[in-house]
Amino acid sequence: MQTKFKLFAIFGDPVSHSISPLMHNYALKGLGIKGCYTRYRLTQPDNLKEKFLELKLNGVNVTVPHKEAAYLACDEVKGIAKEIKAVNTVINKNGKLIGYNTDAPGFFKSASSFGRVSNVLILGAGGTTKAIAAIYKENKIKTTILNRSKTRLEFFKKQGYKTYTWDEFEPGFYDLVINATSAGLSDRKLPAPKKLLESVFSRSRYAIDVIYNQDTPFLKMAAKYNLKTKDGSQMLLYQGVYAFDLFFNMEYSEKQILHFMKKAF
Ligand SMILES: NC(=O)c1ccc[n+]([C@@H]2O[C@H](COP(=O)([O-])OP(=O)(O)OC[C@H]3O[C@@H](n4cnc5c(N)ncnc54)[C@H](OP(=O)(O)O)[C@@H]3O)[C@@H](O)[C@H]2O)c1
Repeated sequence: MQTKFKLFAIFGDPVSHSISPLMHNYALKGLGIKGCYTRYRLTQPDNLKEKFLELKLNGVNVTVPHKEAAYLACDEVKGIAKEIKAVNTVINKNGKLIGYNTDAPGFFKSASSFGRVSNVLILGAGGTTKAIAAIYKENKIKTTILNRSKTRLEFFKKQGYKTYTWDEFEPGFYDLVINATSAGLSDRKLPAPKKLLESVFSRSRYAIDVIYNQDTPFLKMAAKYNLKTKDGSQMLLYQGVYAFDLFFNMEYSEKQILHFMKKAF
């Protein structure tokens, strides 16, 4: 039987830097699937559904700054994506767009190699923090949010998280400290004042920066304090594996998808 060619894409703006096409194309080729994964610079997020259908896509991933727009564009949203109102994976089910968030389980899987944690501190209060915090909450792990400014903390406060700005912070003991800010992405900034981080790192065991393929100032400083560290590459890898699972309705083994996707790094 002739199988139909499948087409996937990543929507974002900008989108040229994304390595998702490389990851997914390695998996498609490695698994012998007739299909292609491309990138599409979406400048008008209001058109997300129309573009998806017009380009006859089977599935998309959505990156910055369109995850909230993708949530609104979907006919149905499932799992954690519903809670955080951000979608990074969309599939087409009989003409209906179904949205998911695989950043959250992707991060959780990546962090699981450190073993069980019971107390987590997240730096930043943006979209990525929403995803990470939600999955720790779901797993009943104590989660504190620390952000530079107050406004974005309101969302987390309402949901019952312990929240602090830098000025109010009273450090506790944390198993894991996560940088989910964009400090260190295109600059050499720490995500919080040095003194504050000193007090955090001297009482913590593990540190993860969601920024990938970079030894950020945050990770460098954490290593100095003998924390075990990890960047955001595995998070990116696993969110891709889980998205691929959704694209193909769990038809392929995660071990195999992972094997091929890893080649992109
Ligand atoms: N590895 C992966 O798979 C993956 C997936 C998704 C995102 N990411 C990364 O996650 C990071 C955050 O993305 P996002 O979409 O959550 O961003 P966002 O929604 O724009 O939120 C940015 C957050 O960072 C804080 N911030 C920005 N610059 C800062 C600085 N110099 N010092 C301290 N805090 C600062 C902001 O604080 P204010 O509220 O005070 O402005 C805000 O809380 C980015 O670096 C992105 O590349 C990685």
